[in-house]
Amino acid sequence: MIQFESDQPVAVNIATVEEALAGIKNDRMAGWYDLPVRVNNDEIEKIKTAAAKIRESSECLVCIGIGGSYLGHKAVIDALGDDGDKVKILYAGNNLSSRELEKVFNQIGDADFSVNVISKSGTTLEPALAFRFFKELLKTKYDNKANEHIYVTTDAGHGALYDEATQEKYTKFVIPDNIGGRYSVLTPVGLLPMAVAGIDIDRLLAGAFIEHRTIKEKHLSDLAAVKYACSRAKLLKAGFDVEVLGSFEPSVATFLEWWKQLFGESEGKDHQGIFPAAVIYTTDLHSLGQYMQDGRRNIFETIITFAVGPKSDFVVPRLTQDLDQLNYLADKKLSFINQQTQLATVEAHRAGGIPVFEVNVPDYSVESFGALIYFFELSCALSARLSGVDPFNQPGVEAYKTAMFRLLGKIGY
Ligand code: PA5
Repeated sequence: MIQFESDQPVAVNIATVEEALAGIKNDRMAGWYDLPVRVNNDEIEKIKTAAAKIRESSECLVCIGIGGSYLGHKAVIDALGDDGDKVKILYAGNNLSSRELEKVFNQIGDADFSVNVISKSGTTLEPALAFRFFKELLKTKYDNKANEHIYVTTDAGHGALYDEATQEKYTKFVIPDNIGGRYSVLTPVGLLPMAVAGIDIDRLLAGAFIEHRTIKEKHLSDLAAVKYACSRAKLLKAGFDVEVLGSFEPSVATFLEWWKQLFGESEGKDHQGIFPAAVIYTTDLHSLGQYMQDGRRNIFETIITFAVGPKSDFVVPRLTQDLDQLNYLADKKLSFINQQTQLATVEAHRAGGIPVFEVNVPDYSVESFGALIYFFELSCALSARLSGVDPFNQPGVEAYKTAMFRLLGKIGY
C-alpha cells in the first residue's frame, strides 16, 4: 500500500474531494478507475498465450506506440525487467527520427522478431509511419508468414489500424473505449509487452487491486492519493507551480517519464496546472541540484522512496591503505549510503525552502509497481478535477498536429 508523507499539514476538504471523486467515477472515460476489480480473465489468458508465442518465435519484440501507448509498459519493464532476458523489448514510433529508426533496425539485425503496434486512435502519425517501415521488414524476412509476427492493440471497432488488422487478420487486442491512452497501462496496451518481457502481470494487477481497495477501506482524509492531490492543490495556490518528481533509483527513470505524461496531459489546460518535471538522484544533484537548492522558489518536490529497495547491493571494501580516504564508509552497504544521501537531500531541500513530499512504496516488487501506477492515476484524476479541468482529454495536442499535417500536405489541412 502506498503511503504519502509531507512535512506540511495536509488539509482535506472532504466535500470537495467527494465531489471530485464522484465526477471521476461518473466520467465516460473512467474505465481505469475500477479496472483492478474487473479483470477479464479470458483476456489475460489471451495475452499470456500471445506472449508465450512471441517468446517462442522471436528474439525481439518491437513495441510501436507513442505517449500513453508506450510509456507505461516501458516504465515497468525498465524498472523490473531482466536485461539478460532472451527476448529484447525494443521501441519505435515514439519519434520521427531516422537515426532512432536505424538504431532499432540495427538492434534487430538478423534476429527473429515480432511487432506489437499500439494505437487507440489508429491514426497517430509516428506509430503509423513506423509500422509501415516494420511491415516492409517483416515481409522481406518472413514473406507470406509476416502477418503472424504482427500483434495489434487498438480500439474495439474504429480507426485505420482496426480496419487493417481486421482485413489482414492480425492478432488483435482491444483498448477499452472508456480508457484513454495515459490511463491504459493496465490494459492490453501495457500487459502484452510486459508479459513478453517476463513481468508477472497477475502480480502487477494484484498490486493495483490492493491500492484500489484502499479507497473503500480508508477514510478519504487518510487516503494517500487524496492527501497527495490536496497537498499539490494547496501548494499551487501558494505559487508553487512546478513539481519535480525524483527518485534515488535510476531504474525508475522511465516511470518518471510516464508520470510526467500522465500529469502533464491531464492537468495542463486552460492556462492552468502544475508543470511536471523529473530528476534522478544522485545524478541530478550535480546538475539541477543547484537550481533546486538555490533557484526560484516556485518548485516543490515529490520523492518516491522504497522502504525495501531493489535486491542488488554491495558492501564497500576496507583497504589497508586508505589512499582515497573512503575507509569511513568501509563495510557499509551501498544501499545504506544511498538512503542516507536521500535523507540528507530532503533535509537540505526543506531547509532551502522547497516543500518536499514523499511517496513511500513498501518494496521494489511488481505488486508495488501495480499499486504505484494506480496511486498516481487516481491522484492525477483527482488533482485535475480539484483544479477544475478535465483529466481525460488533451485538446492542446491537436495544435501541432494541425500545423504538421498542413506542412506535410495532408488533404483537408
Ligand atoms: O494519453 C493519451 O491519450 C495520449 O498520450 C495518447 O496515448 C497518444 O497520443 C497516442 O495516441 P494513440 O494511442 O491514439 O496513437
